[in-house]
Amino acid sequence: MAYEVRGVVARGKGQPVTVETIVVPDPGPGEAVVDVQACGVCHTDLHYREGGINDDFPFLLGHEAAGVVAAIGDGVTNVAVGDYVVLNWRAVCGECRACRKGQLQYCFNTHNAAQKMTLADGTELSPALGIGAFAEKTLVHSGQCTKVDPAAPPTAAGLLGCGVMAGVGAAINTGAVQRGETVAVFGCGGVGDAAIAGAKLAGASTIIAVDISDQKLEWARRFGATHTVNSAGTDPVEAIKALTSGFGVDVAIDAVGHPKVFEQAFYARDLAGRVVMVGVPTPGMEITLPAIEIFGRGGAVKSSWYGDCLPSRDFPMLVDLYLQGRFDLDAFVSETIGLDDVEQAFEKMHKGEVLRSVVVF
Ligand SMILES: NC(=O)c1ccc[n+]([C@@H]2O[C@H](COP(=O)([O-])OP(=O)(O)OC[C@H]3O[C@@H](n4cnc5c(N)ncnc54)[C@H](O)[C@@H]3O)[C@@H](O)[C@H]2O)c1
Ligand SMILES: [Zn+2]
Ligand SMILES: [Zn+2]
Repeated sequence: MAYEVRGVVARGKGQPVTVETIVVPDPGPGEAVVDVQACGVCHTDLHYREGGINDDFPFLLGHEAAGVVAAIGDGVTNVAVGDYVVLNWRAVCGECRACRKGQLQYCFNTHNAAQKMTLADGTELSPALGIGAFAEKTLVHSGQCTKVDPAAPPTAAGLLGCGVMAGVGAAINTGAVQRGETVAVFGCGGVGDAAIAGAKLAGASTIIAVDISDQKLEWARRFGATHTVNSAGTDPVEAIKALTSGFGVDVAIDAVGHPKVFEQAFYARDLAGRVVMVGVPTPGMEITLPAIEIFGRGGAVKSSWYGDCLPSRDFPMLVDLYLQGRFDLDAFVSETIGLDDVEQAFEKMHKGEVLRSVVVF
C-alpha cells in the first residue's frame, strides 16, 4: 500500500515550485519511509529549481530534514519504526575503492532508495540529493537515516542533514582548522555561518566573516566571527591581510560558490594555507588563476562535499554539543514555515532576509 502525501515539486527550470500529491511506495529491501517533521530550505534546493544541478525535472525538493521512521523494508537493521533520525545524503557503500581505502567520507557509490517516488500520474520524481523531504513522508535508503538524541527538536537537528554539516565540516574536516589559527569565511548564509561556528569550535583565534550584506555580517558575529568585512564596498583580500599582520589567513573558505569569491579566498590565504570551496558553482563557471600562484603559495586547494562528514560519526556528536549548549543550532532558524511557503522562502533567501527557513509538518 503506497502512501499519498503532499510534496514540493520543481517541474521546470526557473518555474515557481508547486505543492503536489506525490506517491511514496512502501519500503522495499534496504529502504525506509520517514515521517518528516522538519526540513530546512537550503540554497542547493534553489540551485535545483534553477537547473543549476542537472536537468532531471521534475524534482522533489528538500533534503535537510529530521523525522521519525514510519516503515522499514526487508533486511533493515540499522533503524526501527519509531526511531528519531536525521536524513543524510552520504549512506556509504563500504565497498567502493574509496571505502576500501578507509576514506568513507569520499564514498563514490552512496546508497539511495532503489524505488522511485512519483506524481499521482506516475511521473517519476528526482528527489533532491536522493532525499526529497519537503514532503509529509519520504522514501530513502535506510543508510540515509542517522539516529540522534530525540531531545533535540527537529527544526534544529534537521539542519545537520545538509547546510550546517557542510559548513561545520568545511572548517573542521576539510580545512582542518586548528586552535589558534586564523580563518576567513566568504558568504555568511547557513553554510558560511556554520563554517564560522565550526572554526570557533576548533579554537580558531581570528575568524573573519565576509559578505555583501551588513545584516548577514551582524548575524555572523553570533556564531563566532571576530571581525567582519563587507566586500561590496571594500577589497576583502586587503582587509583580511590588514587583520592578519599582512599575511592572510591560515584557512579561507568560499561558502558562496562563485569564481570571483573563490579567487578572493585564494588570495586572502597565507603561504601554505588551505583554501576550501564548499559553495557550489554552476556548470558554466570557470576559474582562471596564474599557475605559479597555485604552486608558489603551497598549501592546499580543496573542495568540500558535505563537509567531508560521516553522518554516523558527526551527527550524534553535533547533537550532543547542541544539547550541552556549546553549538547553537537554533540560531540558524530565522523562521518556521509551512509546505506552501517554500517559494516565498526562496525569495527571502535570494534577498538575504533569512538564514534558514524551516518547513515544519
Ligand atoms: N558543499 C556542500 O556539500 C554544500 C552543502 C549545502 C550547500 N552548499 C552550497 O553552499 C552555498 C551557500 O549555501 P547557503 O544555503 O548558505 O546559501 P545562502 O543563500 O543562505 O547564503 C549565501 C550567502 O552568500 C552571500 N553572498 C552572495 N554573493 C556574495 C559575494 N559576492 N561575496 C560574499 N558573499 C556573498 C549572500 O549574501 C548570503 O549571505 C550554496 O552554493 C549551496 O549550494 C554546499
Ligand atoms: Zn563506498
Ligand atoms: Zn543542502
